[in-house]
Amino acid sequence: MPSSYNLQPMKNLISLFHDVSLQKLNTFGIAAQATHFLPVVELAQLTAIRNDLSLTKLPRLILGGGSNLVLSDQIDALVLQMCLQGKKMLSEDTEFYYVQAAAGENWHDFVMWTLHQGWSGLENLSLIPGTIGAAPVQNIGAYGVEIQDVFHQLEAFDFETGEVVVMDKAACSFAYRDSVFKQHLRDRMVILNVTFALPKLWQAKLAYADVAKWLEQAKILQPDAKDVSDAIIAIRQAKLPDPRVIGNVGSFFKNPVVSALQRYSLLERYPGLVSYLQTDGKFKLAAGWLIEQAGWKGRNLGAAGVYEKQALVLVNRGNATGAEVRALAQQIRADVLSKFGVELDIEPNFF
Ligand code: EPU
Repeated sequence: MPSSYNLQPMKNLISLFHDVSLQKLNTFGIAAQATHFLPVVELAQLTAIRNDLSLTKLPRLILGGGSNLVLSDQIDALVLQMCLQGKKMLSEDTEFYYVQAAAGENWHDFVMWTLHQGWSGLENLSLIPGTIGAAPVQNIGAYGVEIQDVFHQLEAFDFETGEVVVMDKAACSFAYRDSVFKQHLRDRMVILNVTFALPKLWQAKLAYADVAKWLEQAKILQPDAKDVSDAIIAIRQAKLPDPRVIGNVGSFFKNPVVSALQRYSLLERYPGLVSYLQTDGKFKLAAGWLIEQAGWKGRNLGAAGVYEKQALVLVNRGNATGAEVRALAQQIRADVLSKFGVELDIEPNFF
């Protein structure tokens, strides 16, 4: 459905930058160079790009926080850094507050802001790096909550038609670390803003043992959303490297899902196998455990390495190139496949 945005093209809005270093704009810290670069601060710029034939010919990379991205050294493309700002409550009904944020807003700052306003629902997703616009792309998730659980709708610019479309949850086809924006709409849609439905009747989601244990140790018996957020922040800080200190993109692989039969035969050979029953009777395996058992935890290949506290996270040991990260990921996949017969899917996007 077209929205009320003004879509008039304005040519002077597209003054490009050239040969721009992206090293500080990707959390892995890869020293990539972009041939063409444009910070997007208003929608009219996207319309202007679409109306410029020389620019529509170029491959496009939409950049949010750069926290789920592995870059090559040379990016011969038009890099659009989404800088749209703004957040507000749109409306409410008996069940939900509908809260909207623009694509360029920082995810964690937005979560903190909602909690400060007294709106709960995003607390389990505290401290995830990246931006609002990137969050639906891979359906970010942590500690029992995925963005699809709190998602209402989003607005996106459609490069094919030049219109702004409103997409509801069904249109986004969310799945585990996946959505249409990682699949067939990948090069077509640019997310402009996201609206969340935050429940008025809130219940803490404490299914993850780590979270319940942290709250118990802190002697918090009836946690509110801020307490849950504090727990998640502490757990993440203990397990995951801070990208400002050690370059990384969070989990590098998805947790693989296998049949009950395959899980059973693996369990016979490896009694320590970590697995979780899914609603469809299949089992999700802890990829971090598989990688650790394959001997990769704490090891390096060139300047890329496997984090010593969480084997699912690949890290930059200093000046790693995209090619080195790719080589390490391929070696890990090959070793896990030969030891366990399980294929690991890579989580971040490569460009
Ligand atoms: N484990 C090991 N060795 C390791 C790492 C993990 O044995 O080196 C085992 C442990 O038994 C642990 C289990 O794996 O209990 C699960 O580990 P963890 O709780 O750290 O979670 P994860 O499955 O490795 C997933 C998400 C994370 C999310 C956490 C918590 C994926 C790909 N990753 O990791 O998401 O924060 O659960 O919900 O699903 C991200 O996507 O970037 C991310 C960090």
